[in-house]
Amino acid sequence: MTLVESVRLRQVLDSRGNATVEADVVTQSGGFGRAAAPSGASTGEYEAIELEPGEAIAAAREYAVPRLEGKVYVGDQRDVDRTLRAADGTDDFSEIGANSAVAISMAAAKAAADVLGAPLYQHLGGAFRGDDFPVPLGNVIGGGEHAADATDIQEFLVAPVGAPNVQDAVFANAAVHHEVADLLDERGVPAGKGDEGAWAPSIDDADAFDVMEEAVAAVSEEFGFDIRFGLDVAAAELYEDGEYHYDGETRTPEEQVDYVADLVEEYDLAYVEDPLDEDDYEGFAELTERVGDRTLICGDDLFVTNTDRLADGIDVGAGNSILVKPNQIGTLSDAFDAVELAVRNGYDPVISHRSGETEDTTIAHLAVATDAPFIKTGAVGGERTAKLNELVRIEQNASRL
Ligand code: PGA
Ligand code: ZN
Repeated sequence: MTLVESVRLRQVLDSRGNATVEADVVTQSGGFGRAAAPSGASTGEYEAIELEPGEAIAAAREYAVPRLEGKVYVGDQRDVDRTLRAADGTDDFSEIGANSAVAISMAAAKAAADVLGAPLYQHLGGAFRGDDFPVPLGNVIGGGEHAADATDIQEFLVAPVGAPNVQDAVFANAAVHHEVADLLDERGVPAGKGDEGAWAPSIDDADAFDVMEEAVAAVSEEFGFDIRFGLDVAAAELYEDGEYHYDGETRTPEEQVDYVADLVEEYDLAYVEDPLDEDDYEGFAELTERVGDRTLICGDDLFVTNTDRLADGIDVGAGNSILVKPNQIGTLSDAFDAVELAVRNGYDPVISHRSGETEDTTIAHLAVATDAPFIKTGAVGGERTAKLNELVRIEQNASRL
C-alpha cells in the first residue's frame, strides 16, 4: 500500500463548454490517477452540492488536500472517501463541493489501480466480480432541460436487451440514432442535438414514440436481436403546483400514473426513469405495483444515489431500480453503498453519466465492477463514446478475446 503523495486540482472544460473540476492523484510509489467531475442540468433537489469550480477547488485545497497528502493510503478507498467527508464536515458536500470530492475520489481509485497494475474495474470489483456486462441505454431523442423546443419527456432511450455482447449493443444504439435521423428527415423535421447527443427535434412526445418504435424495429430486424426502448421522463421538471405540465395539456399525479402505465403497456417499455416528481414516493409505489413486473421503474431525482432516500423507497415499494451517479452523492464509496443496498433489496442499479460530461471513463469501470445490469451513457458524441468504447475494451480485456 502506498500513501497519497500529491493531489492537484484544476479547471477543465466539460462537454457543454463549462468549467469543471479535474483531479490528479500521485502516490508515493509513483502511481497516477486522473478524473473529472461531470455536471447535471436537470439536477435533483436532494443532490450533493456542486460548487462553482473555482470555489470548489479553493475549498478542497484548503480543507481536503492537506488531510490526504502523506496521510492516506490510496488503496484504502473507504479511508480516502471518509477523509473527504471529514474534511467537508457537511452531509451534502457544500463546503468543498461534490465536484471536488468526486474528482478526488475517482482519481484516487485510478491511482490505486495504477499501483496494482490492474484495470480500474478489476481493482473496484475484486476477484469475485461476476462476468455479466451492463446493457447500455442510449439516449437518441430528447428534450426537457437538455434542449429547447423539443420533447417534454427528457430522454427516449434505446435498450438493446437481447444483444449478445456490449460491442453489438453499442453499435445497435448508434444504428438507432442514425435511423432516427433518417426517419425525421423523411418527415421533413429538422433536428439539432441536445446536451447528450440525442436528436432534439421540435416534435411532440406522441411523434417521438412513433419514431422510436419504427427505428427500434428496423434496427432490431437488421441486427437480429431484441431491442426495446425506455424513457427518462425527468418528471420533477414538468411538475409545478400539483400538476404535470406538458405542451398543451396538464396531468394530475393520478393521471400521470395512468399515462405512464399505459405507455409501458402500449410500447412494451423496458425502462422508465423518474416518471413522477422527486417527492412522490407514493406515486412511484403505485406505478411499480401496476407495471413493475414488466419494466424497470428507476429513481434518479427521487433517490439521488443516497442510501437514506433509497431506504425510504424500499420501505414503501417505490420503484424497482436506482440510477447511480457518483457526483450526486460525492464519493465512490457512497455510490458503492447505494448499489449494495439496492441489490440486497432486489433493486436494479443503473450506473449513469450526467448531461455535462468529460472524457472520463470511470463510470464504465464502475458499471462492470458492480455487475450493474445497465449503464446509461448516451449513444454518440466524444464524451459519451469515451465510456462506450471503454466498455468495449473492458469486454475484450475481461474475456481475453
Ligand atoms: P442531468 O440529466 O445530468 O442533466 O441531471 C440526466 C438525467 O436526468 O438522468
Ligand atoms: Zn434522470
